[in-house]
Amino acid sequence: MRFGHFDDEKREYVIETPKTPYPWINYLGSESFFGLVSNTAGGYCFYRDARYRRLTRYRYNNVPVDEGGRYFYIKDGDDTWTPSWRPMKKELERYECRHGMGYTKISSARGGVGVETLMFVPVGHNCEVHQVTVTNEGQAAKTVKLFSFVEFCLWNALDDMTNFQQNFNTGEVEIEGSTIYHVTEYRERRDHYAFYHVNAPLAGFDTDRHSFLGLYNGFGEAQVPLSGEPRNSRASGWHPIASHCLDVALAPGESKTFVFVLGYVENPREEKFSAPGVANKTRAKALIDAFSTPAQVEEALGKLRATWDALLGKLTIKSGDEKLDRMVNIWNQYQCMVTFNMSRSASYFESGIGRGMGFRDSNQDLLGFVHMVPERARERIIDIASTQFEDGSAYHQYQPLTKRGNNDIGSGFNDDPLWLILGVGAYIRETGDIGILDEQVPFDNDPNNTATLLEHLKRSFDHVPNNLGPNGLPLIGRADWNDCLNLNCFSETPDESFQTTGNKVGRTAESTFIAGLFLLAGKEYVALLEKLGRNGEAEQASGLLTKMAAVMEDKGWDGEWFLRAYDFFGEPIGSNRCEEGKIFIEPQGMCVMGGIGVESGKAKLALDSVKKHLDSKYGIVLLQPAYTTYHVKLGEISSYPPGYKENAGIFCHNNPWVVIAETELGRADRAWEYYTKIAPAYLEDISDVHRMEPYVYAQMIAGKDAVNHGEAKNSWLTGTAAYNYVAVTQHILGIRAELDGLRVKPCLPKHIGEVSVKRVLRGVTFDITIKNRGTGSHKLTADGQPVDGVVVPYPATGKTVRVVCEC
Ligand code: GLC
Ligand code: GLC
Repeated sequence: MRFGHFDDEKREYVIETPKTPYPWINYLGSESFFGLVSNTAGGYCFYRDARYRRLTRYRYNNVPVDEGGRYFYIKDGDDTWTPSWRPMKKELERYECRHGMGYTKISSARGGVGVETLMFVPVGHNCEVHQVTVTNEGQAAKTVKLFSFVEFCLWNALDDMTNFQQNFNTGEVEIEGSTIYHVTEYRERRDHYAFYHVNAPLAGFDTDRHSFLGLYNGFGEAQVPLSGEPRNSRASGWHPIASHCLDVALAPGESKTFVFVLGYVENPREEKFSAPGVANKTRAKALIDAFSTPAQVEEALGKLRATWDALLGKLTIKSGDEKLDRMVNIWNQYQCMVTFNMSRSASYFESGIGRGMGFRDSNQDLLGFVHMVPERARERIIDIASTQFEDGSAYHQYQPLTKRGNNDIGSGFNDDPLWLILGVGAYIRETGDIGILDEQVPFDNDPNNTATLLEHLKRSFDHVPNNLGPNGLPLIGRADWNDCLNLNCFSETPDESFQTTGNKVGRTAESTFIAGLFLLAGKEYVALLEKLGRNGEAEQASGLLTKMAAVMEDKGWDGEWFLRAYDFFGEPIGSNRCEEGKIFIEPQGMCVMGGIGVESGKAKLALDSVKKHLDSKYGIVLLQPAYTTYHVKLGEISSYPPGYKENAGIFCHNNPWVVIAETELGRADRAWEYYTKIAPAYLEDISDVHRMEPYVYAQMIAGKDAVNHGEAKNSWLTGTAAYNYVAVTQHILGIRAELDGLRVKPCLPKHIGEVSVKRVLRGVTFDITIKNRGTGSHKLTADGQPVDGVVVPYPATGKTVRVVCEC
């Protein structure tokens, strides 16, 4: 069942009913100011940091779900209703929500009044614009009242939810003309305030929540819009809000448009006040002036569209499969931008107050983002590398505001360092900026202790051979990619973290996943060394890779698939000998990606075992059989009920590894089958089962052991976005930037015949035609001349190269 449709021309998903199986959201903003907005106008906004600079209040995990947002109310005679359906939930005669690239538009009608609300964050500004158009669709003139409503968060989102003894006393506002200023704590150390403005004279206003709602009411029963009488209330402590009341007189057929601006302002300390105790509003007024007419809004929206044209224009395809096209051209890239901006901070499943930026997460997010804005990827790389330690290990997370490593969680996730090599490699392949390797980058953010980025990569690489276990495989540490496989943590106490309680720190537990990743990242490292002419080092590193591959084929092999690990006692995990958790997905995908067992045939066996044991109707599950009880020696993985998350859920992040691995073996049909099983556009028809947005990936889909097999959770912020983008563009379509040229090596199923691809990088435009007959071999020409192999060398900047690939 569907709840909407794709409008590819406009790059929008059009939701046709407010009653989606869960709030289906969009993100506004991609620089400093961000908003989350659901299809019923729920959500919130913040400046840079969702914890410390939260502008509006939102209630996670509340009833009803999705409480708090940008609400408008219409009072039309005796009828009061909300055009976004929620919070009043009055029946609408028409409803549509269009989520587009950085904007959302909700249109509806009731009782002959149409309302359209457009919301976006204009490029280069710290505000949300809400443009509301009210139309009289009836035959008679009428006057309606329009009420706006936002509730302010008292800045620190955690404190706001918990520290009431203090914060019920601090709320303050200023009201000037049609602008309501939220100035809580501006009197003391804060140099910032928020405001909500409308470009029209007010019939009244409210700034105190009790006055607006009535004491025991929810948003759906708000007294002021129900009565039609604004109270002109002034918040003092308690809960500051901003609500404007406008009288809107409309002739039949007439429309009126109002522009609301919800903005954020920072003032230099010396300019904080215009008079004692009065906030300086100069900067707010400039922001208001920038968006005081619909024409200015139109222009800003045009600029936003142009920005997205440019961002999405680096790789576009036309394949004849509209679902593939919309994933590759629009939604997968869009999600990659969002994950790059948000990391794992703010979604409808991440509260914005918890986790910092992950070392491994951010490096992987970069893989799906680097082609869009390489300069920002460069900056991110330096930030991440600066949190590395001298021995190559790294903080698992860092805080975006301070860019410092997070001491609470510390280090010891032994896959972390290797992801840095992949992030840097992707950046250099995209841009050719090999000079980044000469940048001086600190260890542990200490400006007095720096080394070149190349040296950082060397430490990342060496961290593996420096930390081998008894079988010659990499030690796992606290965990590898699978945060929940905690082999050195024997936790019997509910209140401690599986990730940080390493009470059995030993040097026995080993990870085959890290071995596979070592091969994959190691090859990237070797290629960079060769490019730099450091052939001796390259050879030495290659030697270590060959050795690791051999160890894997011996000690890392279980007979029909790759083992997952050795535990604290040296016993195998992910082996036929185990009772539960006999086979895991991660090493099958990653080891084959690293090239292990491709020649010996083990790779093929391993992937056939994935098909046999792990594949399901809705995707590949993480392991089988699921753990049915808690195993103290395994950690968090066995804490989940069977079929959820790391315990045999379809953890979508690792499915593309198997897709890539299948393409390494040239098995196009199988790669395609796995790709389309979890790609959201292909799941649109089962939205009632999947429940999450059909335009973005979710982290997890419940596995075959779960009660609700096929139901997704944790949409939006997941490494799934970047890795699927890599899988589909670089391996299925086979378009991949290499150090010396563009590799064109598709692995497409037969039914996809001809694909045209435009790929812009390094100032060169590649116009590629893939003529696919599924032969498994590749014959390339560039500008009519035969190409030796599958890599088309980069020509001079500014050129267009026509490439034809017959395969
Ligand atoms: C989450 C984490 C990621 C981890 C994965 C598997 O998505 O953000 O770092 O690799 O879970 O545990
Ligand atoms: C939990 C989740 C896992 C996530 C981790 C992050 O363990 O199950 O997916 O990576 O938290 O800390």
